[in-house]
Amino acid sequence: MDNRPIGVFDSGIGGLTVLKEVMEQLPGEDIVYFGDTARIPYGSRSKETVIKYFLESVTFLLTKKIKAIVIACNTASALAMEEARKVFDIPMIGVIDPGARAAVGATRNSKIGVIGTEGTINSQAYQKKIRRMLPMAEIIGISCPLFVPIVEEGWENTDVAYITAQKYLLELKEHNIDSLILGCTHYPALRYTIGKVFEDKVTMINPAYETAKATKIMLKELDLISNKLDGGKCSFYVSDDPEKFKRIGGNILRKEIAPIEKVEIEDI
Ligand code: DGL
Repeated sequence: MDNRPIGVFDSGIGGLTVLKEVMEQLPGEDIVYFGDTARIPYGSRSKETVIKYFLESVTFLLTKKIKAIVIACNTASALAMEEARKVFDIPMIGVIDPGARAAVGATRNSKIGVIGTEGTINSQAYQKKIRRMLPMAEIIGISCPLFVPIVEEGWENTDVAYITAQKYLLELKEHNIDSLILGCTHYPALRYTIGKVFEDKVTMINPAYETAKATKIMLKELDLISNKLDGGKCSFYVSDDPEKFKRIGGNILRKEIAPIEKVEIEDI
């Protein structure tokens, strides 16, 4: 048993989709969420930069006496988790493994699509993981950079979202994929629109949900589960003005986010 909080990291707001799942599946856990809102997006940055930012973010989270880290950000999981594991001696779980595993379990025709940021798709992290479990899999990765601003604008169920999704996802449709990994924190918000593009003929894998499930298993295995059954508290930290985080984040979590504290990233 361990009642210290879990640290949840994201490059910004999108990781709240993961936080939401963790809160639902582990209601007794206290959580410290850090969103690196001053330096978002991670998705278009180089591997070196993502590693630097992520290591600094973990350094901050460790000051909060956390017992484990959930990397909600797909880009950081893909580009920086390996490096962070070498540097920090704390249990860490990213979204790639759980998402890839679920896709392998779901596919019937071994044709799997992965969508995410440029960083995540170009890293091949999901593709490599899937291939290790299902060597004959045909995996098509597409980066969809416009999806993040569309969701942050609150336009996920509009014509703009639908037309954009049609364009990005055409190749995946042509390949007749039967499973699709929503490999970016923001994309679960586009579920409905993406489902419409595929005429509801693909199984969508939400790494946020899968990661929360895997986090529970990890904490149990390491005997790190809290002894509270519910009533876990969440504190929020961001590296830029909390106002936008509060507004958009409130929509994602469907409740008011407070208190939010600003962290001076240069001081880390
Ligand atoms: N959180 C990022 C991810 O899941 C998306 C936003 C960004 O580019 O930083 O990849």
